[in-house]
Amino acid sequence: MELIEQIKEKAIKLQKRIVLAEGSEIRTLKATEIVLREGLAKIILLGNSLEINEITTREGINITGAEIIDPRTDSKRERYGSLMVEIRKSKGLTMAEALESLNNPLVFGPMMIKGGDADGEIAGAINSTGDVLRPALQYIKTQHGVSVVSGVFFMLFRDKTIGDNGILVFADCAVMPDPNERQLAEIAITTAKTAQAIANIQPRVAMLSFSTKGSAQHPMVNKVANATRIAKEMAPELMIDGELQLDAALNDEVGQLKCPGSMVAGRANVLVFPGLEAANIGYKLVQRLAGAEAIGPVLQGMAAPIIDLSRGCSVSDIVNMVAITASQAE
Ligand code: ACO
Repeated sequence: MELIEQIKEKAIKLQKRIVLAEGSEIRTLKATEIVLREGLAKIILLGNSLEINEITTREGINITGAEIIDPRTDSKRERYGSLMVEIRKSKGLTMAEALESLNNPLVFGPMMIKGGDADGEIAGAINSTGDVLRPALQYIKTQHGVSVVSGVFFMLFRDKTIGDNGILVFADCAVMPDPNERQLAEIAITTAKTAQAIANIQPRVAMLSFSTKGSAQHPMVNKVANATRIAKEMAPELMIDGELQLDAALNDEVGQLKCPGSMVAGRANVLVFPGLEAANIGYKLVQRLAGAEAIGPVLQGMAAPIIDLSRGCSVSDIVNMVAITASQAE
């Protein structure tokens, strides 16, 4: 079964409550209709109900079954405000500041999760990554034992000989501009777990660089080599190798030539890039020039599933993201 179909099946069984923070955005409303029709999740739209109903009537969109909550008037504002003050007390956040921030749906959404009233949140169709992520990082925070939130893309190819049955997993394409050695090691381990949890992939993780096993000398190469060593120490059960150039990671002949005996070289299915520049450019190159379908960014390491959409997202991208968010919210 195709990956996305498997994810949708799981979501249907779980029936999680997903907040769509950009509740009056047109693609979000069209996606809501499809999500509700397919039974993928319970949907909470944030926004003014009069405005939302006016748009759905005008556009002929049926969102019957979605709950609409207005962050400006909702009765849970005081409770969420107190929670925010408690979480940010070391930063000196006052109740008045918390209540003011709650007017912002990008803050209200994460607080619904923190308050136990939702299971996951999606935004980003009209807001920047930073604006979506900052409140989530501040209030939802990271999973126990994880210090770095990062973003994964599942790259789906028609050619099933690529990666794991046509799937490669790329990270971190979305969050950390310049991870240090330890953060890069953590990103590799978290990505391996995400690949396994979402796509049932037995991960073989390549730590990418412009050098293979010391072929070039540079502090940027040392960073990847050290991150590989740290990741192996942190998760000795993982198949992980580096530093590897992309061809050594993916091409069996080159891999065996440059890295004989490696369990990963030539057969990698998880690619960990050295920084956000390479990763973000890399996934878009593969998407645009190789025609791969890019599913993501799926954020990992957060204590609850939050998804940041691309502003160029389609209605079906949002539907897929609802399914992924719901299936992550186990
Ligand atoms: N993991 C865990 N916590 C983090 C992370 C992280 N990766 N990054 C920041 N934090 C924490 C900080 O420690 C801070 O916590 P505190 O307030 O409790 O002390 C909080 O989050 C906010 O951090 P700031 O430093 O105030 O926020 P910053 O301006 O660094 O924003 C952000 C973080 C938004 C993730 C930033 O790193 C960023 O903009 N990254 C690039 C995002 C981007 O543009 N991606 C490309 C587009 S996405 C795409 O194309 C698919």
